[in-house]
Amino acid sequence: MSLDKGQISSDLDKALLAIASTNDLDSLKQIKIDYIGDKSALAKANQSLASLDPGQRAEFGKLIGSARSEVNQAFELKSAQLSKQRDSQVLLTEKVDVTLPGRRTLKGGLHPLTILTNEISDLFIGLGYNVAEGPELESEWLNFDALNIPADHPARTMQDTFFIQPLEAKLVLRTHTSPVQIRTMLEQNPPIYVICPGKTYRADELDATHTPVFHQVEGLVVDEDITMADLKGTLDYFAKSIFGNEVTTRLRPSFFPFTEPSAEVDVFFNGRWIEWGGCGMVNEKVLATCGVDTKKYSGFAFGMGLERTLIVKYGITDMHDIVEGDIRFTQSFGVGKK
Ligand code: PHE
Repeated sequence: MSLDKGQISSDLDKALLAIASTNDLDSLKQIKIDYIGDKSALAKANQSLASLDPGQRAEFGKLIGSARSEVNQAFELKSAQLSKQRDSQVLLTEKVDVTLPGRRTLKGGLHPLTILTNEISDLFIGLGYNVAEGPELESEWLNFDALNIPADHPARTMQDTFFIQPLEAKLVLRTHTSPVQIRTMLEQNPPIYVICPGKTYRADELDATHTPVFHQVEGLVVDEDITMADLKGTLDYFAKSIFGNEVTTRLRPSFFPFTEPSAEVDVFFNGRWIEWGGCGMVNEKVLATCGVDTKKYSGFAFGMGLERTLIVKYGITDMHDIVEGDIRFTQSFGVGKK
């Protein structure tokens, strides 16, 4: 490459003009690349000095050197000027008003179902019960067979079951908390006093009154001389603790394969009878399956839906409110307060 004074002076002019005519820092950055960077015309001219003979090298060296320093100076000046402008702009637009009130972040809190589960657990722990848990993915045997619901029994169709593939594995999403009764009786000898709160599943569409994933609390007592009167007394105490001292319970004859006799539990709340759950004396067949000596021991069991309990207690009209976790709903139960 040969060097030419006219070219150097025109490169210099172009660079100075570009710097002079820019008004923002972003384009100034690009100008630095184009007119000062390694690939700029003046940098390239500088690189080609090496190929000149010594006499010319000194002359062109000076010329290019002073052109480059002129461009650099103009750049630094412009850069300082534009940065100053930007800073004063930022001070104006990003002024902090220290007199504004602070922003409060909402504290997390417990879902009403969790609050209710804790309340019920505390209540029964106070009566000497233990809290038992079992898996939500349950064997068909524990969810049905051991509870005296054989495969061909119409009672199986009472509960719309989510079966899990492969079907040969015989696993279901538990349709109730009653399999935890079986697990408990297989693991422990009487006396047994447990409650089992937990998630349960049935193939229902989510609507105002149904949800495919819901919660139950199961109670199981197996001891000597346990009668229906113990069951009734326990349910009364349970109902009063949850709904208030003025409520009473009533048992209506019903059918569950795992209890005999069986009953529906109603509570008299806000001036009317409301269906609350199921209960009964543990069927001797179920006790025998679990190796309990039925001559010595008898037992009772009950099971309540927790969503249903909330709906009744608080007059909730739409299941979506419980399921969807909208903070405006949960707040009314003490989110952020507890
Ligand atoms: N497991 C029953 C259900 O989900 C409820 C129940 C539990 C009934 C215990 C009686 C005794 O429908």
